[in-house]
Amino acid sequence: MEGIIENARVLFVAIVFVSLALDVKARRIPAAPPCDFPAIYNFGDSNSDTGGISAAFWPIPPPYGVSYFHRPAGRNSDGRLIIDFIAEHLGLPYLSSYLDSIGTNFRHGANFATGGSTIRMQNESIFENGISPFSLDIQTMQFDQFKARTSELYHQSELKLMQDNIFLDPSSARKLPRPKEFSRALYTFDIGQNDIAAGFRKLTMPQLRAAIPDIVDKFGAAITRLYQHGARAFWIHNTGPIGCLPAAMFYVSNPSKPGFFDKYGCIRSHNAIALEFNRQLKARVNTLRAELPHAALTYVDIYSAKYHLISNTKIYGFRDPFKICCGHHKNNIHVWCGQRVVINGSEIVGAACGSPAACISWDGVHYSQAANHWIANRIANGSFSDPPMPIAHACLKH
Ligand SMILES: *[C@@H]1O[C@H](CO)[C@@H](O)[C@H](O)[C@H]1NC(C)=O
Ligand SMILES: *[C@@H]1O[C@H](CO)[C@@H](O)[C@H](O)[C@H]1NC(C)=O
Ligand SMILES: *[C@@H]1O[C@H](CO)[C@@H](O)[C@H](O)[C@H]1NC(C)=O
Repeated sequence: MEGIIENARVLFVAIVFVSLALDVKARRIPAAPPCDFPAIYNFGDSNSDTGGISAAFWPIPPPYGVSYFHRPAGRNSDGRLIIDFIAEHLGLPYLSSYLDSIGTNFRHGANFATGGSTIRMQNESIFENGISPFSLDIQTMQFDQFKARTSELYHQSELKLMQDNIFLDPSSARKLPRPKEFSRALYTFDIGQNDIAAGFRKLTMPQLRAAIPDIVDKFGAAITRLYQHGARAFWIHNTGPIGCLPAAMFYVSNPSKPGFFDKYGCIRSHNAIALEFNRQLKARVNTLRAELPHAALTYVDIYSAKYHLISNTKIYGFRDPFKICCGHHKNNIHVWCGQRVVINGSEIVGAACGSPAACISWDGVHYSQAANHWIANRIANGSFSDPPMPIAHACLKH
């Protein structure tokens, strides 16, 4: 009898132990407190530009912004971008563009991304092919300057505060980050698509393939440089399925070749380049983990998130993934979203469709707000990340 009780007790203790162990294992991630990022510093191209190109050159015209801001808001979409949803998710305000001199607030970060940016500096101008002069190396230099100058201003105003109890310029100091918060911020990246697009224009496929190691190398150098300036948490998007962009179909030379398109209608050879870039980027992020011992590097598979959406359009309530909501593209006449062209005496307007929320593509190159929202929801919980950590925990080293 006693033996049975004793056995039962052992069993009970064992069960409690096992379930405790399971509990600890299952809850390991949520048990760690979130990082509580005080700021986001973003680097990239039009996929995450929140006003850079509009400030530096000319404003993005209506109907961009129509679904959310109800006016053009410097973004290449009808509304918010993935970076906006990331900011919302982390409880931070939308990022002001570093280049914008009007109405900006950098208290919780800054955005260095500009539409048309590349990783490698290109010998082209914005007036030729829309290539931004602010390549990734320039963006990281702008960050260095931003950090040095805001820290200097902050210390000056503190000194002034001690001397005569008056802030140098209270309103501008309130809109600058605290120097000690730079090392606790999240550093986000979404760049590479324009290096590939420039390659399609200027290089043969073998040449472009051969250039990928150099492109990835420059990406790694930018991350290393930011690390040397105190950055620790990195959230790195790979590049999306460029061969699935509806605008990619306008200029294809031999689409009748068998196997040119995949089963969803994306250009196979273009996506193959994006996949190769991503493979090498992922490998580089791995080596960076060894080189930068205090960095937490999260590699985010944006390609798979976008491709999953494009290949399951109906399930998620979207229409044809190749439909372009804004712009006029018929009989070889291409009028881009927001543009007006007079052809044979009649004006053609690149207008928006009636239901942007049902479209994946807003203007043929950029995703709709609805698609951006879908993608941001998928990536925020870490289901497309390596390591598979929610973005709120992206400061934890693995
Ligand atoms: C740009 O031009 C310089 C000097 O001619 C050259 O060294 C460099 O490789 C070029 N860069 C690209 C991306 O073509
Ligand atoms: C403009 O009109 C001419 C003459 O009618 C015609 O040949 C041409 O195709 C038209 N162009 C366009 C872009 O419709
Ligand atoms: C992440 O969120 C998406 C969308 O809400 C959901 O479908 C997916 O199962 C989640 N994944 C994890 C690992 O929580």
